[in-house]
Amino acid sequence: MLELIRRDGLARICKLETRHGTLETPALLPVVNPRFQAITPRELYETFGFKAIITNSYIIRNDLKMRETAVSSGLHAMLDYPGIIMTDSGTFQSHMYGEVEVKNEEIVDFQRSIGTDIGTVLDIFTEPEWSKERTAEAVEVTLDRTKEASTRKGEMMLAGVVQGSIYPDLRQHCAEQLRAIDVDVHPIGGVVPLMEQYRYADLVDVIIASKKGLAPERPVHLFGAGHPMVFSLAVLLGCDMFDSASYAKFAKDDRYMTIEGTYHLKDMKVLDCDCPACAGKTIETLKAMKPEQRFETIARHNLYASKMEMDRVKRAVLEGDIWELAEMRCRTHPALLDGLRRLKEHREFLERYEPLSRDSAMFYTGAETLNRPALLRFEQRVKERYTMPKTETMVVFEGGEKPYARHWAAQMGEILKLADSHFFVMSELGPLPIELDEIYPVAQSIFPRIRDRDMTEKLREEMEDLSHRHQYSLSCMYDGQVTCEMLGMMSKGPGRFDLDVARVHAVADHQFGKGAAAALFSGKVELIKSKNTDKIRNVLVDGEHVVSMRAEDGFFTLRPPGAIRLLNAIPAPRLRAVVLDDSVPFNREGKNVMSTFVVEADAELRPQDEVIVVDKNDSPVAIGRMVLTGDEIGRFKKGLAIKVREGIKPSA
Ligand code: GUN
Ligand code: ZN
Repeated sequence: MLELIRRDGLARICKLETRHGTLETPALLPVVNPRFQAITPRELYETFGFKAIITNSYIIRNDLKMRETAVSSGLHAMLDYPGIIMTDSGTFQSHMYGEVEVKNEEIVDFQRSIGTDIGTVLDIFTEPEWSKERTAEAVEVTLDRTKEASTRKGEMMLAGVVQGSIYPDLRQHCAEQLRAIDVDVHPIGGVVPLMEQYRYADLVDVIIASKKGLAPERPVHLFGAGHPMVFSLAVLLGCDMFDSASYAKFAKDDRYMTIEGTYHLKDMKVLDCDCPACAGKTIETLKAMKPEQRFETIARHNLYASKMEMDRVKRAVLEGDIWELAEMRCRTHPALLDGLRRLKEHREFLERYEPLSRDSAMFYTGAETLNRPALLRFEQRVKERYTMPKTETMVVFEGGEKPYARHWAAQMGEILKLADSHFFVMSELGPLPIELDEIYPVAQSIFPRIRDRDMTEKLREEMEDLSHRHQYSLSCMYDGQVTCEMLGMMSKGPGRFDLDVARVHAVADHQFGKGAAAALFSGKVELIKSKNTDKIRNVLVDGEHVVSMRAEDGFFTLRPPGAIRLLNAIPAPRLRAVVLDDSVPFNREGKNVMSTFVVEADAELRPQDEVIVVDKNDSPVAIGRMVLTGDEIGRFKKGLAIKVREGIKPSA
């Protein structure tokens, strides 16, 4: 059973329970060759800290001696490995060497009989050059075999593989069909040739198509992905498990794995690694080693390099910079950059999992950053949810320090004495209404001062678009005294634009949807500001505290009177999660909402969004923030769905 611990978009930290312990994902499972182990499974567990490995049941079964030992003593004793063992089925052997002489039911039963923790179906490896017809047939056979295997798995967890070659519709179909089958892990198969041929854009399409169809509460394993170069990108797209035979395969040919790619020892002039395998060695001593010793050293190095990168990726998911990490890593090879660039085609899908905000600032790493789902959302919401104030003129400022409203405060004051004006800023995110300058990612993003061509072009397009949409009778770029003199002559008189009032309205509609501001702030509005920062902290309406504004990301935290106003004005299911009666008393006390207790949740809600927990009669029960998304809620059998901040007692 999988429990989601932390997430950033599709990237996630989870716990997978097995008979041999709990696996924390994302995780790399080193491939153990049952015939020959230069690095023993025990060492992998104790020295390297790999809590799971993968080995091949087909090879064990085909060797009389190993087969007997495995059946009589069990796989864990045979390999002397106390952790989690996953086995593959022989499918990969058929891809490499042709026919495999085993039936699906035989290999599934065999895996169960040797005590494998996670066994694998004998799927059909769909090759990238196959026709669609042939691939479609192979997908159906794979699905039939998965159904058959699921009836024989017993206590063993079972991996049901997504196949479908490079056809996104077949991948998605396969994944959707797998939802209904009782399996526990979903490897994405048939991708080794894509990685060998550096077809990372295709790999991205395959992963996304599979993720679209798969059940979110099951872990996804990227079969045969063992190069640290791809970990960050694959984790970003929601892959949880990886396996690597590369560490040993590459070591055999004296190839050295790094996050930047693979280097042949003979080309290396310096050994620039201080991992436990390399520490104290030089390129000369390494080259002078006997072949077996050199193989072992490089294999160990390759494992350390892979482990370190997986840990780095994990840290990025926890600290909120997995996008930055993936973007940087994808610059190590132009083919990986193709993978990164392909994400643009999938940004609408990615946006559904994109959190409302992050703890860390968004860093611009290059033109691809402009395709981030956070920026797409911002742009869409400004178009769809933002209402321009009805002022006579609009003045546009060029950039400046953040927060923009502070930077341009004096100029705005001066202009308002002369003209009824509103203000935009030409920001890296496009033309920005000044009152949205504190929300994520506007204030929490760092772009280079020197704009590149992509930034300039995007801004030009959006300025052009704005020039067609706006209703101001006069608009101009701010140009110091010249602008003031011009406005003084042309304008009908001073302005009433109130930045604070505009801010609370714009943020409410941006965050909760159009109409939210009207619902929240109808009545006598009082803004309480911080004495230190002069930022808005609380909004009171008719004496009731309806929302607080967070200093970190500029968005609102709902209070019960605000939640009730939204419930009355905005029809279900928007902004709500309906919980079972059993859950209601706990949530009213402020206890978190567990996934299995949610009946239904607004599909438009995103991770970190404010959500109103209601009972089946739409009465408010609590206010919290979404951990899962609408399509994930209820599907996870363990863990949190909503982090409750405040319970709401029933009104008398
Ligand atoms: N190992 C690498 N790719 C695959 C695959 O597609 N299926 C199986 N079963 N194992 C693999
Ligand atoms: Zn090293």
